[in-house]
Amino acid sequence: MALPKLPFAVSFVFFLGWITATSSAQIIGPPGGIIGKWPTPATPVGNPPDPQKALLGKALFWDEQLSGDRSMACGSCHAPAFGGNDANGGALHPGTDGLFGSVDDLFGSPGVIRQNSLKEYIHDVNFGSKRQVTPLNAPTQIGAAFFSQLFWDRRAGPDLKDEFGVTVPGFAVNAALEDLVTGPPTSPVEMGHDGILWSAIASKISGLEPLALATNIPPDLQTLLGSTYQQLFLQAFGPVIVPGATVSRERIARAIAQYMRTQIPDQAPIDSGVLSISLSAQRGLNLFRSTGCVSCHSVNGLAVNPGGKFIDSNDNLFSDGAIHGIGLSHVSAVPVKTPTLRNVALRKRLFSTGQAQDLKAALQQQYFVQNPPLGFGGPLPPQDNADLGAFFDSLTDPRVANELPPFDRPTLRAESVPFQSNQFGSGSAGTGGFIPTMISNAPEKIGNADFKMGLGSSLGGSSAIFGVSRGANPGQVLNGIPIEIDLTQLAIFTSLPLTAGGAGEGTATFFLGLPNSVTLIGIPIFTQWFVADPASAGGFAASPAAGYTIF
Ligand code: HEC
Ligand code: HEC
Repeated sequence: MALPKLPFAVSFVFFLGWITATSSAQIIGPPGGIIGKWPTPATPVGNPPDPQKALLGKALFWDEQLSGDRSMACGSCHAPAFGGNDANGGALHPGTDGLFGSVDDLFGSPGVIRQNSLKEYIHDVNFGSKRQVTPLNAPTQIGAAFFSQLFWDRRAGPDLKDEFGVTVPGFAVNAALEDLVTGPPTSPVEMGHDGILWSAIASKISGLEPLALATNIPPDLQTLLGSTYQQLFLQAFGPVIVPGATVSRERIARAIAQYMRTQIPDQAPIDSGVLSISLSAQRGLNLFRSTGCVSCHSVNGLAVNPGGKFIDSNDNLFSDGAIHGIGLSHVSAVPVKTPTLRNVALRKRLFSTGQAQDLKAALQQQYFVQNPPLGFGGPLPPQDNADLGAFFDSLTDPRVANELPPFDRPTLRAESVPFQSNQFGSGSAGTGGFIPTMISNAPEKIGNADFKMGLGSSLGGSSAIFGVSRGANPGQVLNGIPIEIDLTQLAIFTSLPLTAGGAGEGTATFFLGLPNSVTLIGIPIFTQWFVADPASAGGFAASPAAGYTIF
């Protein structure tokens, strides 16, 4: 395809050699159980507890390489310090009507930018070229090992099914966690792209070293560094007869499930017995019981054991694990599973809709004022509200709040370099007033075969010029076009067609797989898109630029 003429001279285009450019039932425990020590989570017979597999699962849970574009880990949406919730407090989802600003809007967690089966960025009907958002708030993974079925609608578990929907032998019961793990990596919203296959995920992961994108790696995980996942799976799970199946969907699910079974928040103040929590918290607990909260957020053991020894798992989680409609405005109209109240005070957003942010305000307004169906009706006196708050604080395990073992974790790449923080310049508008967006969150790590840059919010059906330069020229404007990259140091200067669509709907993707060569480390590159658009100054709408330093 011929390059559209830009109003400046590019003396020559040179390509660097390193660039590979291609376009329940309740069990009431006996009195006198052990304080501060919970029952062991039930496990499927096919996956008995094993520290080596659990450690491998910890690495996988915190590894952004598990996602299609290497931008999302499980932990991106499930941070311990925030009670297993999205650390950024979520993002707006338009709800089932698809309209932002209507009553059914809710808060979920940001996932990946929409990509098609060729891993190209495409325009999403709800989110355009921004990150998609999950249609529900993330519940916690911490303590989830005690639920027999998972997700707000309990669709995960009790068995683990293979890709053909057949229950895997040894995983008929107690395998909700294994079953759950098979979801997010292939979700085109959370970690994957349209049409992504587990076989592709497993074979990609196989050749990679764990946590290559992470920093501040805890000591236990450091012992895994320097090996590939294939070597680690071989050590943890043993050899397989089928070639290439050392790393597989089921093994990944087993490892991550094992890790989640180590996430037991059993050292909150209340685990030392209810008589050891503050008097205010004890009054809060009494209120919690007397107003009937416990009919769903169960504490059955207390009835027979007023000294405060939680024996059964439902009591420990303060959840019956069952689905209820609670008939509150701002809360899902669809009945959902009672969430655990463990570490609830750490959560940035509450309820399946994420619509409440402040725990005490949520209690005040939602459970007590708006809740005639539950029979609470009427405002909660301030002292009662404070007491309930103190009770909830007594459910916080300080190791969770402070991310100490076993809730410790590495720092994610996306935390060191927040989304789009490597961009500069503001671009210029095209047809419809849309400024082309630069998609620049793929990590510039050597060996990243998925390294790519994207263009969004552009004139559908038009074409774009994509430039990669060794230098930047911030603030430079030529012929009305903001050109932030240094044109004298261009490495790539090429033209790409945009996807079809209207104004603001065109996208393009440039794949720049990086070889696994240490000589590239430290090389800076700067990239920018220019979209042919008759409505723009100089005939081109510019995106912001992005700067990378290969690591
Ligand atoms: C983009 C954000 C995101 C990512 C990434 C993500 N999750 Fe979640 N997680 C969610 C949301 C949202 C839900 C609730 C979904 C639902 O109920 O339909 C959820 C639910 C869960 C639950 C259920 C808890 C319960 O009590 O029902 C567990 C456990 C969990 N995720 C673990 C994981 C694991 C393991 C991974 C990685 C393989 C992962 N998550 C990746 C957002 C995310
Ligand atoms: C009929 C069962 C039921 C009763 C009774 C009940 N809850 Fe809930 N609770 C739920 C369900 C179900 C949800 C999740 C609703 C949603 O998110 O859409 C929930 C959510 C919550 C949450 C938010 C937790 C989170 O992580 O998002 C808190 C806090 C809470 N309840 C406290 C209480 C208190 C306090 C009472 C008593 C005043 C109470 N609940 C009574 C079933 C119940």
